Amino acid sequence: MWPNLESLANALISSLVLTHVLAQSPEQLTAQNPCISKPNCHECIQTPSCAWCFDPKRESERPRCFQPAYDINPNQEQCPEEFTYNPDNIMSLVSNMALTEAHGKIGGAGGTIESGYAYSNSSSSSSSSSSSSSSISGGESNWSESGSSQIVQIAPQRISLSLRARQSYSIFMNYTQAEDYPVDLYYLMDLSKSMADDKEKLSLLGDQLAWTMRNITSKFALGFGSFVDKVRMPYVSTVPENLIQPCPGCAAPYGYRHMMRLSKDTCRFSMMVKQAEVSGNLDAPEGGFDAIMQAITCRDQIGWRQKARRLLVVSTDAGFHYAGDGKLGGIVKPNDGECHLDTNGYYTHSSLQDYPSVSQINAKVKKNSINIIFAVTADKTSVYEQLKSHIEGASFATLSSDSSNIVELIKNQYQQISSSVEMRHNASSALSIKFFTRCLNKDGALMNTNKCGNIRVGDIVNFMIQMEVVKCPKDPKDWRETIEFYPVGINETLIVDLEMLCSCPCEQPDSPNYEINSPICHNHGTYKCGICDCNFGSFGRYCECTTEKISQNTTRGCIQPGSPSGLECSGRGSCICGRCECEARGYSERIYGPYCECDDFSCERHNGQLCSGHGVCDCGHCICQAGWSGNNCGCSEAKEECVNPENNEVCSGHGICECGVCKCQVTSEGRYSGRYCEKCPTCSDRCEEFKDCVQCQMYETGPFSKAECLEKCKLFTPIPVDKVVVDEKKNEISCAFYDEDNCRYAFVYYFEAGHFVVRAQEHRDCPPKVFLLGIILGVVAAVVLMGLAIVLLWKLYTTLHDRREFAKFEKERMMAKWDTGENPIYKQATSTFKNPTYAGKS
Ligand SMILES: *[C@@H]1O[C@H](CO)[C@@H](O)[C@H](O)[C@H]1NC(C)=O
Ligand SMILES: *[C@@H]1O[C@H](CO)[C@@H](O)[C@H](O)[C@H]1NC(C)=O
Ligand SMILES: *[C@@H]1O[C@H](CO)[C@@H](O)[C@H](O)[C@H]1NC(C)=O
Ligand SMILES: *[C@@H]1O[C@H](CO)[C@@H](O)[C@H](O)[C@H]1NC(C)=O
Ligand SMILES: *[C@@H]1O[C@H](CO)[C@@H](O)[C@H](O)[C@H]1NC(C)=O
Ligand SMILES: *[C@@H]1O[C@H](CO)[C@@H](O)[C@H](O)[C@H]1NC(C)=O
Ligand SMILES: *[C@@H]1O[C@H](CO)[C@@H](O)[C@H](O)[C@H]1NC(C)=O
Repeated sequence: MWPNLESLANALISSLVLTHVLAQSPEQLTAQNPCISKPNCHECIQTPSCAWCFDPKRESERPRCFQPAYDINPNQEQCPEEFTYNPDNIMSLVSNMALTEAHGKIGGAGGTIESGYAYSNSSSSSSSSSSSSSSISGGESNWSESGSSQIVQIAPQRISLSLRARQSYSIFMNYTQAEDYPVDLYYLMDLSKSMADDKEKLSLLGDQLAWTMRNITSKFALGFGSFVDKVRMPYVSTVPENLIQPCPGCAAPYGYRHMMRLSKDTCRFSMMVKQAEVSGNLDAPEGGFDAIMQAITCRDQIGWRQKARRLLVVSTDAGFHYAGDGKLGGIVKPNDGECHLDTNGYYTHSSLQDYPSVSQINAKVKKNSINIIFAVTADKTSVYEQLKSHIEGASFATLSSDSSNIVELIKNQYQQISSSVEMRHNASSALSIKFFTRCLNKDGALMNTNKCGNIRVGDIVNFMIQMEVVKCPKDPKDWRETIEFYPVGINETLIVDLEMLCSCPCEQPDSPNYEINSPICHNHGTYKCGICDCNFGSFGRYCECTTEKISQNTTRGCIQPGSPSGLECSGRGSCICGRCECEARGYSERIYGPYCECDDFSCERHNGQLCSGHGVCDCGHCICQAGWSGNNCGCSEAKEECVNPENNEVCSGHGICECGVCKCQVTSEGRYSGRYCEKCPTCSDRCEEFKDCVQCQMYETGPFSKAECLEKCKLFTPIPVDKVVVDEKKNEISCAFYDEDNCRYAFVYYFEAGHFVVRAQEHRDCPPKVFLLGIILGVVAAVVLMGLAIVLLWKLYTTLHDRREFAKFEKERMMAKWDTGENPIYKQATSTFKNPTYAGKS
């Protein structure tokens, strides 16, 4: 028993530092520990802040999923490093070329010096179009892109990331708008009859359009295509002659015709526009969607450059047909979203498949980073305004009836498009992604937005992308994901190769600790990550139970023999196959023992600390560190506190020191007392001994004369104080007496460094002197005065009474109306009668 305790105590001392950490975060300790309830490794690491211990030697009742920050119960071993699985988020930059700076300079690890020269030379002398491969040589020639492909508008470009579930991680991304970024503009024109005047105007404005755009970028390319509608009833009249010439001076109707590949040759643009012939159709909406789909998907024919701002201007004065409308003409095959152009640039599948839907167009636009600009006449704006909101990066503007404002319109739209950036991503729903940016306001607050406006060439916008795996997908194949972050309308991306850390390596069959039907699991389960994963029909920690066994009476082994309550597993666990599985507790607390009868948290506490912080709790009892004792380890075994300074003896030799307090002996005469047991049972205080000296030294009174005082009182000199207050710490003794003048005086004394220190009251408390004669005279005077007052009151009363009686008498006398000589009861004998009817005059 004892060696065991000693080793415990050693373990405890070595982990004292940890206890200190524990004590610092009590509020965190009380919070619910989310880890302990996780039964296996992958659920554990899908919980933030949890780690898994797959140490085969870990005590079986201890949860394997733990919080590394708090798993520091001092009397338990830590999970060894090599058996802990606690992956961190890992980010590494795969490609991080620096952003292209304004003024055509190229920085960056990726760009070679040669290409940098090529680019800067070409941008400064684009008109010559001779040396640089990036310059446009006009006509239908190929685009060489070695120069412009070095433009970098997004940094970094590729990141690989390993992310734990439910832990958000932020990556940072910069966007800039490079100077002289190539612009591709494909003009898609509705050439139904009503657009004839627009066509004329556009052919005149072609050069102006090119100049204006070339002012913005030297790498401007222009292309042209036109559309009417499907050549089928009811869209187009199919009367044979109408199929040749639907209206006077019109060309045969067609669905879509690509007429000019993207090129720098603007003369050719004007020419092609002039050459294009208008055609005629029947219904109001046109087949614009067919044309848009082809213009986007036929990348090679149209000549879209890889790195360029791609504008698709759709100018029309009518509405549009969309998916489903094809049925009117008996076309039921849905649009396949592929390119179908013949060598002459005609759309071959016009009458074979339906119009595309809005979402098909949107998907293609997103994939190809194309900005559609709808330039429509005023009467159609409401339709296209709605359409715009369903297509990423689309915008619309009002075209004058003859298209005369087209140049201004395109310039404005381009500027609007290029002066803003909107970040998008294609992550799956397993991820939550938020964009934060300050836009151009470097000192402003981070806003939760993916858009910034008013960006000029050279401005750098920093985006913070906050990613979090909200839920691990069911299929392990989906744990790897490639996510693209891209600005709308620009073919540049930040690619994130994401690996979600949703499972543990030790759960893989190739792990060294992985064993199918392992003997540890009673051959009924797979041993992995330190636990048994039981086969169907078996269960228990080590798969020791089967469904047959559970029907037998197994509770007996779970009840502690002789326990008063008779509860299974002491009520703190569950009985599984005759063995107790104790409840898990938070953090470092633990319930254990074969019947869950023990725990390490219900020991005596002192000042709120378990075992006073000087021991560990084992099964309800504190095991104290060396130097400490007591039930709660609150007693220091150090003896200094008990040593009497008068004689340097522990408790003056009359007691034992316990917990820094002297416990004094009891002898036949009684008990020693005092802090150091220095007072013998029969000794009284030394107050009596000191009082005469205090009296003569302080107040020059008392039995000693001056000479005697000097001679006898050498032990101390009292220190005068205003009021004596006993200082318990110094073990002061307080004394108080009344002297012959009936004055109270008090003093205290204690022993220090070989002599007594006495502090005495400076002035005695004497009763105030009483003036006796005054009191007597006062009393006599008061008695006399009182007597006089009573007499006066009596006199006052009688006088008032007399006055009132006299007044009454006077009143009665006044009321007597008779003569003083008349008898009031005498009645005259004569009577007088009057006749009321007699009217005689008197
Ligand atoms: C253009 O290229 C030439 C070499 O072909 C080089 O000497 C010159 O410095 C370059 N110009 C710029 C502006 O980089
Ligand atoms: C155009 O591209 C084709 C193949 O992509 C290539 O064979 C040809 O040489 C290119 N033409 C020019 C002028 O670069
Ligand atoms: C973004 O640009 C700032 C300077 O404007 C730079 O400090 C930062 O490192 C850049 N971040 C990335 C991811 O390139
Ligand atoms: C091009 O810009 C210059 C000034 O930067 C201006 O004078 C000129 O008119 C612009 N040309 C066009 C066609 O807008
Ligand atoms: C975008 O650019 C990459 C090269 O950076 C290219 O492979 C890809 O085809 C381009 N995408 C589009 C739609 O042009
Ligand atoms: C996002 O786009 C990239 C490139 O198109 C693709 O490889 C990736 O699979 C997409 N990611 C998702 C989650 O769809
Ligand atoms: C199970 O064992 C207990 C204790 O021995 C006994 O009291 C109880 O009757 C038994 N129950 C059954 C179903 O055998």
